Amino acid sequence: MTLTADTFDFVATLVRQKSAIQLERGKEYLVESRLAPLARSAGAVDVDAFVRGVRGDITKHDLVVEALTTNETSWFRDINPFTVLRTTVVPDMVGKGRRELKIWSAACSSGQEAYSIAMIIADNFPGIRTQITATDLAENMLAKGRSGEYSQLEINRGLPAPMLVKHFERTGPTFRINQQIRNSVTFRKNNLLDQPPMGGPFDIVFLRNVLIYFDVATKRDVLKRVRGAMAPDGYLFLGAAETTIGVDEAWERIQVGNSSVYKPREGK
Ligand SMILES: C[S@@+](CC[C@H](N)C(=O)[O-])C[C@H]1O[C@@H](n2cnc3c(N)ncnc32)[C@H](O)[C@@H]1O
Repeated sequence: MTLTADTFDFVATLVRQKSAIQLERGKEYLVESRLAPLARSAGAVDVDAFVRGVRGDITKHDLVVEALTTNETSWFRDINPFTVLRTTVVPDMVGKGRRELKIWSAACSSGQEAYSIAMIIADNFPGIRTQITATDLAENMLAKGRSGEYSQLEINRGLPAPMLVKHFERTGPTFRINQQIRNSVTFRKNNLLDQPPMGGPFDIVFLRNVLIYFDVATKRDVLKRVRGAMAPDGYLFLGAAETTIGVDEAWERIQVGNSSVYKPREGK
């Protein structure tokens, strides 16, 4: 059975209000396939019946929103930003006298981005202390990140073998990132529509592959709050398909090799 327009509209409105993720008409298949497992485990006959049941039960709304987030991630995703971090951004900060770096991995999904940053700094800048705040809306992703445990399949997505050997231990069928790296990352729930998390002002922010889900006004608001949470000489990394250009002119785009990084413009 396909979703009724009423069910779709309720879910799309709820998801937009709670996360700013835009679900346009035509995404009915996505709503149906993401909510089907929840409907099954609640014993509902189908997704329509499940949604009718949760409409009046606000304690279930976060579950529906979480199910509609896309949590796609991998180790060293798109590699270039991590190269720029190692060759340009951290050396610049260290050159200016920083011995401790405060980093925000915003919309961190299951933690691979935050741990990739932590491993790069531990391997290349041994005297530098790192405090990484990793945030997401989805509790299930934060729990996974906190556990630091990943399956073989997840490990295969971008983790170089020498890093697996150096920073992970086997725990039965999974691999767990070691304590030292785990200690440098704190996972916190944070909605990008709300105020930024504790742990700032941040020297470096990774805000990657999440602005694409938002409309322009929301992108602008999020970028403004991120800017307010950063050190004035800080650096912002966005996803390969994302830019501040045409959205928020308070950022300077710096091209480094094949990649870009952004800095708050002075006085903005
Ligand atoms: C595609 S993943 C990106 C993960 C990682 N940054 C990367 O580039 O690999 C997008 C993440 O954004 C999170 N997200 C979506 N809307 C959000 C919001 N309003 N506040 C915080 N996180 C949000 C989702 O839960 C999801 O984990």
